[in-house]
Amino acid sequence: MAAPAPLVLGIETSCDDTACAVVDGAGGVLSTVVSSQLAAHQPYGGVVPEIASREHLANWPPVSAAALERAGVALTGPGGIDVVAATRGPGLVGSLLVGLSLGKAIAYALDKPFHAVHHLEGHLYSPFLAPPGSSSAEEAEPAQPVPDRFTGLVVSGGHTNLFAVSGGAVETLAETRDDAMGESFDKVGKRLGLLYPQGPRVDALAEHGDAARCPFAVPKVRAERRPDRVADGRQSLDFSYSGLKSQALLEIERLERRGVATRPAEGGDGEARDRPDQDQGDPVFPREVLDLLAGFREAAVGQLLDRLERLRAAGRFESAGQTLAVSGGAAANRLLRRRLVAWAAEHRIDLRLVPLVYSGDNAAMIAHAALLRERRGRRDDPLSVEAASRIPI
Ligand code: KG4
Ligand code: ZN
Repeated sequence: MAAPAPLVLGIETSCDDTACAVVDGAGGVLSTVVSSQLAAHQPYGGVVPEIASREHLANWPPVSAAALERAGVALTGPGGIDVVAATRGPGLVGSLLVGLSLGKAIAYALDKPFHAVHHLEGHLYSPFLAPPGSSSAEEAEPAQPVPDRFTGLVVSGGHTNLFAVSGGAVETLAETRDDAMGESFDKVGKRLGLLYPQGPRVDALAEHGDAARCPFAVPKVRAERRPDRVADGRQSLDFSYSGLKSQALLEIERLERRGVATRPAEGGDGEARDRPDQDQGDPVFPREVLDLLAGFREAAVGQLLDRLERLRAAGRFESAGQTLAVSGGAAANRLLRRRLVAWAAEHRIDLRLVPLVYSGDNAAMIAHAALLRERRGRRDDPLSVEAASRIPI
């Protein structure tokens, strides 16, 4: 059976992943291919913008060919791509330019509609995507309908945002005043000598620590600067992760002064197999470090739950629909997922947690957001739209 029209080609190159996907008219993911540049950036401990742009150029031909082939779709001709979408920003401008220019050129050459999608709009609607079909593109499950009104939480390496969505209009309820949550995990992990991206590794190590033995406070953010971002009382709904990160870095220093080893043990991989309290392959750290990471993660996740609970207490999930959609790279965090499930069940909130395959950057979310825009009759001119490193949603 032919996939429902229109077929959307999605392109995402905002940071260090080169991604291409084909999504059908029902939001079914026919293919999603993500080529990671980890090996190129790991020697530097983080993403090097110039290297990222060059890698995107080199990765695009095989990535796009694989996405089209897996979807069983040709770029041109009958049954070919109907709509083209690429990320416009925010992100690294050199990286964005590669994918956006490719998308513009393809749309212009094929004379197809074009969508320049905001990266966070992609994340925001990604919890409604169904995981890709297990065996063939034909099994692609349609996306779930997006409710007219819902609350969105996007937690990634660059953003920590709460959004109110209503009839396709997106309003920011809260954002981080400094670091993003994923970024704070990366920086703490980097200090411990972990490889980029450190977030998932810190999360995995924290599973083996005891947060109660190294508690960190959930920071309060003063409301004066944005009096509109208050749900109850005087504290702002905005987030802050740089204080928590600094506390964790100071605590690492304190451990070092006490002679505790805060670098992975030599040959960590091999030794980890003999340690029942750590996952296979995780680097080996003393208990004090695992407790510190557990305490740090507890406070980081606690801050998200604190804001959600205050929104709930202020009646948001009654007045604006019960749906909470959570997305972004850091939405893969194991503690966050457990806490959200328990909290949503307790308060009968309709929680949509992004499937793990779409939590990190990918192009299926960009094609899906473009499909929603297409339905609302919003398109962009491939000749004039420009990449932007910072743009409001
Ligand atoms: O959405 P994403 O792939 O890229 C951005 O748009 O930023 O998010 C990547 C971020 C990185 O900071 C990474 O360390 C973090 O998400 N991350 C995590 C976890 N998995 C990825 N942070 C905490 N816990 C995790 N399990
Ligand atoms: Zn992202």
